[in-house]
Amino acid sequence: MIQENESPERLRPPERERLRLDCPVLLTERLVLRSPHVEDIDTISLLANNQAIASMVSRMPHPYTRADAVDFVRKSATRANGNCVYAMTTATDGKFIGCCALRSTADPDGLEIGYWVGLPYWGNGYGTEAVHALVDTGFKTTDVNHIDASCRVTNTASRRVLQKSGFQFQGTDMHHVMALNASVSVERFRLDRKTWMSLITWRSKTAHP
Ligand SMILES: CC(C)(COP(=O)(O)OP(=O)(O)OC[C@H]1O[C@@H](n2cnc3c(N)ncnc32)[C@H](O)[C@@H]1OP(=O)(O)O)[C@@H](O)C(=O)NCCC(=O)NCCS
Repeated sequence: MIQENESPERLRPPERERLRLDCPVLLTERLVLRSPHVEDIDTISLLANNQAIASMVSRMPHPYTRADAVDFVRKSATRANGNCVYAMTTATDGKFIGCCALRSTADPDGLEIGYWVGLPYWGNGYGTEAVHALVDTGFKTTDVNHIDASCRVTNTASRRVLQKSGFQFQGTDMHHVMALNASVSVERFRLDRKTWMSLITWRSKTAHP
């Protein structure tokens, strides 16, 4: 039973619990972000089997086989770890074009995002559009104070996506990349709730009628 004088901190549900419970389908102007389906397996294995993608993300095997895609879809569906994993699909024809995710981290005050777009679809603004949707969902459906992301120092496109989404440079680190079986230099970025609030206020003021 709730005591009237109980501290709000104690009443607040843990972020992980809230995130696990709520991974809604996300609609953007050109994308539908939904859970990966069995029907996506062939396309996932085709698009993910690319060194240019695997070498930029932490946990993607390379070569990437059909069995890897089957495993990925099965794990995403159970949401066993509380993460929201999304298939990026086009709103017009439902084509699978990539993946993105909102993840909980060791820090209960934050979430982390990850994303990749299939090479044939690069340079169309899809990565940025998906990141905006993940960020908005993270801040709107949980009470975390910041969202983190990191990219390899050589990953100009990803850095640009993060900058366009309002993330700010925090510093550098070393991360292990499964496909390279090596550690690489990464740049850490963070978007805090206050900055996000200013951005969405600005976006709503400048939106076309
Ligand atoms: C990073 C990635 C998701 C970007 O997806 P995308 O849909 O092409 O991204 P967008 O089109 O929204 O934006 C890309 C931006 O990077 C810029 N860019 C791309 N390559 C660039 C380069 N070599 N030099 C400078 N800018 C570059 C584009 O011009 C664009 O910026 P702009 O809109 O200001 O012109 C995609 O390249 C990818 O999946 N890469 C491999 C996996 C990966 O890096 N994932 C992220 C891990 S941190």
